[in-house]
Amino acid sequence: MNDFALARAVHVLAIVWWIGGVAFVTLTLLPACRGLAAAEARITLFESLEYRFGSQARWATLLAGASGLWLTHRLGAWGRFLDPAQWWWMHAMVAIWLIFTLMLFVLEPLVLHRWFRQRAAAAPEATFALIERMHRILLAASLLTVAGAVAGSHGGWWM
Ligand code: HEM
Repeated sequence: MNDFALARAVHVLAIVWWIGGVAFVTLTLLPACRGLAAAEARITLFESLEYRFGSQARWATLLAGASGLWLTHRLGAWGRFLDPAQWWWMHAMVAIWLIFTLMLFVLEPLVLHRWFRQRAAAAPEATFALIERMHRILLAASLLTVAGAVAGSHGGWWM
């Protein structure tokens, strides 16, 4: 069995599932919630629709991280992390993975959920706008990383 090809397929599938979901939430679900509900009800509506994706995103990040580590090990590519100018997209992948892992497993369940609720009670409009902005920034960084990783692992346009 070609475990390297299998790990690459798992890695890409996990990324498609996870970042595709982030794109749907950012570009479709959040604008729909803004249009459908009054400011005070938006976060409740958003959370009730989005929570199913939360557990899927957790599984997808686990699969992406495990397969990514296996690929790095099989390629003997640990040295890439010593040369960020050439291998910036390797650092970008790990950075995006760390940010989402921290958000999904630690910050969201322990801190952010409560913090958004408290902030929304005082300033619903501004809190929803903040949630939208955070999603847009994370989506843009994720897409840039996907483009860099696909191009980088096939020669890179900057080389
Ligand atoms: C712990 C985190 C991660 C590690 C260690 C990791 C590692 C790797 C490695 C070693 C490769 C193969 C590179 C090569 O063939 O030269 C790869 C490919 C790739 N990774 Fe990651 N990755 C991680 C997370 C991510 C994330 C978060 C994304 C997307 C936002 C991502 C997107 C991709 C893509 C699109 C490819 C290219 C697949 C292809 O075109 O064949 N990875 N990753």
